[in-house]
Amino acid sequence: MKTYNDTRLLHGGDYNPEQWLAHPEILKKDFELMDKAHVNTVTVGIFSWSTLEPEEGVYHFEWLDKVFEAMHKRNGRVILATPSGGRPQWLSEKYPEVNRTNILGQKHHHGFRHNHCYTSPIYRKKVQQINRQLAERYGNHPALLMWHISNEYSGECYCDFCAEKWRDWVKDKYQTLDAVNDAWWMTFWSNSYSSWSQVVPPSPLGEHKVHGMDLDWKRFVTDQTIDFFLNEIEPIREITPNLPVTTNFMAEGHDQQDFIPLEGLDYSRFAEVIDIVSWDSYPDWHNPYEPLHLTAMKSAYIHDQYRSLKKQPFLVMESTPSYVNWHAYNKAKKPGMHILSGMQQLAHGSDSTLYFQWRQSLGNSEKFHGAVVGHDNSEKNRVFQEVATYGKRLDTLAAIKGTPKEAKVAILFDWESNWALKRGGGFGRPTRRYIQTLQENYRFFWERDIAVDILTPNQDFSDYALVIAPMLYLMQEDTMKELSEYVKKGGILIGSYFTGMVNENDQLHLGEWPQTLQTIFGLLPQELETLYPGEHNQILYQGKSYQTKDYCGIVQETTGKVIATYSQDFYVNTPALVENRLGQGTAYYLAARTDLDFLEVFYQPMIEKLALQQEIVKDTQPKVSIQSRTDGQHNYYFLMNFSEERQQLELLQPLLDLETNQTLTGLLTFAPYEVKILKKEN
Ligand code: GLA
Ligand code: ZN
Repeated sequence: MKTYNDTRLLHGGDYNPEQWLAHPEILKKDFELMDKAHVNTVTVGIFSWSTLEPEEGVYHFEWLDKVFEAMHKRNGRVILATPSGGRPQWLSEKYPEVNRTNILGQKHHHGFRHNHCYTSPIYRKKVQQINRQLAERYGNHPALLMWHISNEYSGECYCDFCAEKWRDWVKDKYQTLDAVNDAWWMTFWSNSYSSWSQVVPPSPLGEHKVHGMDLDWKRFVTDQTIDFFLNEIEPIREITPNLPVTTNFMAEGHDQQDFIPLEGLDYSRFAEVIDIVSWDSYPDWHNPYEPLHLTAMKSAYIHDQYRSLKKQPFLVMESTPSYVNWHAYNKAKKPGMHILSGMQQLAHGSDSTLYFQWRQSLGNSEKFHGAVVGHDNSEKNRVFQEVATYGKRLDTLAAIKGTPKEAKVAILFDWESNWALKRGGGFGRPTRRYIQTLQENYRFFWERDIAVDILTPNQDFSDYALVIAPMLYLMQEDTMKELSEYVKKGGILIGSYFTGMVNENDQLHLGEWPQTLQTIFGLLPQELETLYPGEHNQILYQGKSYQTKDYCGIVQETTGKVIATYSQDFYVNTPALVENRLGQGTAYYLAARTDLDFLEVFYQPMIEKLALQQEIVKDTQPKVSIQSRTDGQHNYYFLMNFSEERQQLELLQPLLDLETNQTLTGLLTFAPYEVKILKKEN
């Protein structure tokens, strides 16, 4: 594993001096203000290509040299970005092939940013050239900390280069047209291919896409994005083999009042080719549709998922010190919220709080986006002050840098299942909500301060006490075998409706559910009943009734023991929850979607039996989140009040306040949004 050599938590972020080269007084002030804000790291060059190379082959680095020097002088570090996220006008004009083509086949003009063709040979060459220049010039600079490759890779291209790549990809995977026709079930609607030339990208827009093709297309988009990335880092690996590379991942869902990992790219595959995972975290704090602690829960989920990609500390590459500009309504963080949200990043394993952006621009599309330094250009500004206070606190927390988190509970998430579930017709389309369902399960543990790793089925889950894998719709044979081994060796596994429904081509199994799954869960799924919004059934569990929603799977138990049944409809009295002992372990199949009240009674005895509860405060409560990191010798606990009210918690043992060095005992009081970081010697 390649890592960077700095012992501090990184504080700083996206810095765009290229917008201010005509204002030397601003540049000078920037560094003075950075010192005051306890900034130790800047990320530069992300959108600097037209300044770095204003004409083809003509380079200007002096301004960037100055940034390196200024940072070095103050013992600060530079994260250097490659500029491929936004290319110069001359490049788009001279080589139109670099511009992206949309799904309707329309070639874009230069546009704004994030809109290149990732296959274009010229673009790949030009990107390598500028990256080589940067690596040669700054590769040995002592201030250089790591590489930030491009920016927020996403999207797809439908140009002829990409179409040809796609055809090669399909050929390579399937070898024969018969195999493609089989895998994608192409006799349906008379789609069968009779020649390779017919293999073109999915089109047009709309719901009717060949399911197998669409799934493979998404795999291809991930592959081609990674391939572009690998092309970018060739000169970088050659010239700076010891420096780590990262690229900033994203989240999405804001338009649906959700906050979930990016769905379009399989980040578990991307994580394999980068050294450090980083992401851009923009939770919708203070939104009108949920209490603050639920926003915190969703944000925690994504932190945990991205940390789990490598099971290593990660970086928050971007976050806003106040508000964003791309919502319909862009709400500022209230006083205290910035520090709380930053500490939450650390609590879940981040070694940084970096911002978009250091300084607000005067014009163009992000002029109203929050920044450390606002248009008032003043350190008296509330946001600046809060950032500075936070930076100062970070200085006292350096001990946690690099410390991992430990979890005994794993939730399995699979990008491919998500793609396939979202594509498929049938059942309730708006209610699939795979990731949101995982978050609902995660919520139970988060509210009880129990750490969770979120893994893909390809990661090793054999050592976890509990593996929660609802809606794992698309399942490879290997995964079934590993789940079976896991249970046999003593694990507890949770499956559900949709689990193991299709194979890797999104095709159902003829006849019965795969034998391995039958053996694990001790049942045979029969039907999947869809409920309308507002329609419910009830399940009877340990003498009490719980409401179901969206989906009620109808199953026939075999070796499994029925521990809950439906109380209504044509499947009344049939199993809703089946428990199956296999080897040393137990698998549960929850056939219906329920509310949290049921998950609570279902999971509570498990966490007690497995002794998963936290041990530092008397009664946990949802609004004060406790997360910990450990280096083996010490545990570091973050106690975070995600509410507008004062809260109290009773410590079960004396712990040291890491920032004040005072020993705390008994009742602790938390002001709204307050965070305490406590330390325990092991
Ligand atoms: C993304 C981008 C940044 C900036 C921010 C605004 O994360 O990477 O360049 O546009 O969004 O929130
Ligand atoms: Zn293309």
